[in-house]
Formats: sequence, C-alpha cells, structure tokens
Amino acid sequence: MGKKLSLLISILIVLFLGMLFTVNAAKKKSHPKIGEDMITEDPQVCVACHETQAREWEKGLHGINQVRCFICHGDLEKRFERISKPSECVMCHADKVEDIKRSKKYKTCFECHNGHTLDVKAGAKNIHQK
Ligand code: HEC
Ligand code: HEC
Ligand code: HEC
Ligand code: HEC
Repeated sequence: MGKKLSLLISILIVLFLGMLFTVNAAKKKSHPKIGEDMITEDPQVCVACHETQAREWEKGLHGINQVRCFICHGDLEKRFERISKPSECVMCHADKVEDIKRSKKYKTCFECHNGHTLDVKAGAKNIHQK
C-alpha cells in the first residue's frame, strides 16, 4: 500500500514538472544574447551554436538562394520567432500564401514543409494550385 502510494506521488510529481516545463517552453520568447558585435543577418554567426540547422539550410533551396535565417527567425531581438507566419513568405511565394489562406485549415507552411530542408513532410496534402 505504502509503496503504491509513493509510486503514485512520484508519477504526479513527474507529470507536474513536465507541465511546468511545457508552459515555460511555450512562453520562451527571446533568444539568448549572442553579443553586440554579431551580425544577425549573416548565417555564419549561427553556425557556431546551430550547426545542424545551418547545414540543412545550406544544402536546401533557401541556402542555395541565400534566403537567410533572419527571414524566418527575425533579427533575434526586435523580432524572434521559431516558426514564422505565412506573411514572411509573401514577397517571394505570393501564390503559395494565397493557397494557404484559401485552405482555411492550415496556419503555417511548416505543418507540411520542413523548415530547413524544405522537404514535404510525410503524408502532407497538396494544397497548391498549379
Ligand atoms: C552563442 C550561441 C548562439 C548563437 C551564435 C545563436 N544562437 Fe540561437 N540559440 C542559442 C541557444 C542557447 C538557444 C536556446 C536553446 C535551444 O533551444 O537550443 C537558441 C535557440 C534558437 C532558436 C530556437 C528557439 C526556440 O524557441 O526553440 C532559434 C530559431 C535560433 N536560436 C536561431 C538562431 C539564429 C537564426 C542565429 C543566427 C543569427 C542564432 N540562433 C545564433 C544559442 C545561439
Ligand atoms: C523558411 C524559414 C526558415 C529559415 C530560412 C530558417 N529556419 Fe530555422 N526553423 C524554421 C522552422 C519552421 C523551425 C521549426 C522546426 C521545423 O519545423 O523544422 C525552425 C527551427 C529552428 C531552430 C530550433 C531547433 C528546432 O529544430 O526546432 C533553430 C536553432 C533554427 N531553426 C536555426 C536556423 C538557422 C541557423 C537558420 C539559417 C542558417 C535557419 N534556422 C533558417 C524555419 C526556418
Ligand atoms: C527572398 C525570397 C524568399 C522568401 C522570403 C522565401 N522563400 Fe522559399 N524559396 C525562395 C527561392 C528562390 C526558392 C527556390 C525555388 C523557387 O524558386 O521556388 C525557394 C524555395 C522554397 C521551397 C521549396 C520548393 C521546392 O521546389 O522544393 C519551399 C517549401 C519554400 N521556399 C518555402 C518558403 C516559406 C514557407 C517561406 C516563408 C516562411 C519562404 N519560402 C520564404 C525564395 C524565398
Ligand atoms: C497542407 C500541406 C501544405 C501546406 C500548408 C503548404 N504546402 Fe507547399 N507544398 C505541399 C506539397 C505536398 C508540395 C509538393 C507539390 C508537388 O510535388 O508538386 C508543396 C510544394 C511547395 C513548393 C514547391 C513546388 C511549387 O509548386 O513551386 C513551394 C515553393 C511551396 N510548397 C511553398 C509553400 C509555402 C510558402 C507555404 C505557406 C504559405 C506552403 N507551401 C504551405 C504542401 C503544403
């Protein structure tokens, strides 16, 4: 009996901590300071700490076309987003932004596209009109 109770209590504590962590992660709005002298429009600045993402981006069509990190993530200070809104794509993919508006079902392009490789995620429906 005592054992079962303490097991239950441990489970509840773990669940509670997990909840706190999730709430915190959702609230986290700002990027850690990376230094005054760092130019946030230069993807090379990001490589030191985010090598995986930077390498994926580099090999993808955005890297090849120099559609840089700040377009989606902001300057890290005045604007910082993990997942950018379709309005950030409109200057180059206006037709695709119309597609997502028309669909009414999807809020971001990244429900279907990977942020860096840009690959279509498994099972994603095609909402684009030719
Ligand atoms: C000195 C190290 C450092 C540099 C340089 C750096 N970052 Fe970060 N970045 C971090 C840390 C630490 C975090 C928070 C922990 C994590 O999620 O990895 C983070 C988190 C992020 C996140 C995710 C935030 C979230 O909500 O999950 C994005 C997006 C990001 N950085 C983009 C960039 C971009 C773009 C650049 C280049 C302009 C950059 N970072 C440069 C250290 C750095
Ligand atoms: C086209 C928009 C876009 C560009 C450009 C872009 N990212 Fe991202 N990034 C995303 C999205 C969307 C996510 C959220 C995870 C996902 O869906 O892949 C993300 C997530 C991240 C994260 C958080 C870790 C994670 O996987 O959640 C880091 C760090 C990051 N990006 C760094 C960078 C760096 C560095 C560059 C430039 C070299 C860059 N991103 C360019 C869209 C972009
Ligand atoms: C400054 C212009 C620019 C912006 C802004 C931009 N892109 Fe792109 N994107 C390109 C270029 C150039 C390509 C290369 C292929 C092409 O011409 O369509 C591309 C390719 C892509 C592809 C892959 C196409 C393929 O054939 O596999 C996807 C997906 C994509 N972009 C999504 C986005 C999303 C989502 C955003 C907004 C968060 C965005 N892009 C913002 C210029 C841009
Ligand atoms: C519901 C899923 C879904 C959403 C949301 C979505 N896409 Fe796509 N997208 C796809 C699929 C599937 C393909 C592959 C189509 C093909 O192979 O012909 C694609 C292809 C693309 C291409 C390359 C092919 C072409 O026609 O030029 C670009 C660029 C693109 N999407 C941009 C975007 C942008 C920008 C957004 C957000 C405004 C977005 N997508 C939202 C599913 C989606």
